[in-house]
Amino acid sequence: MATDLLQMQSKAGNPGNWDKEHDDTLVCIDIHQETHDVRSFTFASPDGKRFGFESGQYFLFDIPVGGDIEPRCYSISSSPHRPNAFTVTVKRVPGGRASNWLHDNLAVGMTLKAQGPLGHFIRPRDAARKLLLISGGSGITPVMSIVRDLADRCEPTDIVFVHAARTPLDLIFRHELSWLASRMKGLRLHFLPEGVGAEPSWAGLTGRISPEFIKLAVPDIADRIVMCCGPAPFMAAARSISSSLGVPSSNYIEESFDAAVTEETAIAAEEMPGNAVFQVEFVKQARKIEVSSEQTVLSSAKKSGVRLPSSCANGVCGTCKSKLLSGSVEMNHNGGIRQREIDAGLFLPCCSKPLSDLVVDR
Ligand code: FES
Repeated sequence: MATDLLQMQSKAGNPGNWDKEHDDTLVCIDIHQETHDVRSFTFASPDGKRFGFESGQYFLFDIPVGGDIEPRCYSISSSPHRPNAFTVTVKRVPGGRASNWLHDNLAVGMTLKAQGPLGHFIRPRDAARKLLLISGGSGITPVMSIVRDLADRCEPTDIVFVHAARTPLDLIFRHELSWLASRMKGLRLHFLPEGVGAEPSWAGLTGRISPEFIKLAVPDIADRIVMCCGPAPFMAAARSISSSLGVPSSNYIEESFDAAVTEETAIAAEEMPGNAVFQVEFVKQARKIEVSSEQTVLSSAKKSGVRLPSSCANGVCGTCKSKLLSGSVEMNHNGGIRQREIDAGLFLPCCSKPLSDLVVDR
């Protein structure tokens, strides 16, 4: 199939560039098993368009599960210097509808709808800056794109990369990273599995990231830009260790699609008396809730047990995108929705406050 696609593309001449405002169909051209529960899926445009993205960005996919569409953000793991296709790397999450569907159903040649590239987890462009990359588990995907990007640039680099996982067998891209570290003079790699698991011959350190480990692995951490991606508790630990070792918050960049903390904070901040209150109806769930003019639709919905997909809770990722059947909102998004989608009546509940009663197609 991949060969057919490439032949099709070469016959088509120059098909142009992927336009994130208008293009939304991807065809899967390769699937690769990375570890026992992680697969990489490579996508191209069916008409051969070229992708322009920054390493660290992601696509928002519409995953068709059991008659529903589950929107999910997956970070790009491939290098932006290979523009004919891009790869996302997905861990099978126990009970996760979208990741299990991808692992069990997606096959080469199938198409999916997706929006992107999106996101701001992007390396500062100052080449003189030294980097510390820290990833936990499948949080390695955007960081791997950054490393592959730097490897392809062949520029002098000064990177320390700490990658943590549960066991050595869970270290995604383990062999490629070891190979890259043997080729890239400025890349120092530290794997940190929590335990040896089924690989008792593992000769490296084990444990969790700690101030002691980071001081040993990265004695000059205070001089580095720190970029971190992983589960929320892992990032909280990395943030606190970095700060305690002298990294200013302006030099600490993190990526996460787990919005639980943000959500709670937003809910607490918005519970103010004396605001107008509107009725918001979710027709598919046959639920009506009250939302104050100072609350976002998403935060109130979550508090009331109404099910809405969400991820960044900040108007970036587009996961919560929903159809507004009636009413109006004040929406302050950060690029997670296109103008033509707004024109078509869609909105992002995570960054929208009601200006009237609303009816939402959820
Ligand atoms: S949850 Fe990310 S845009 Fe709403």
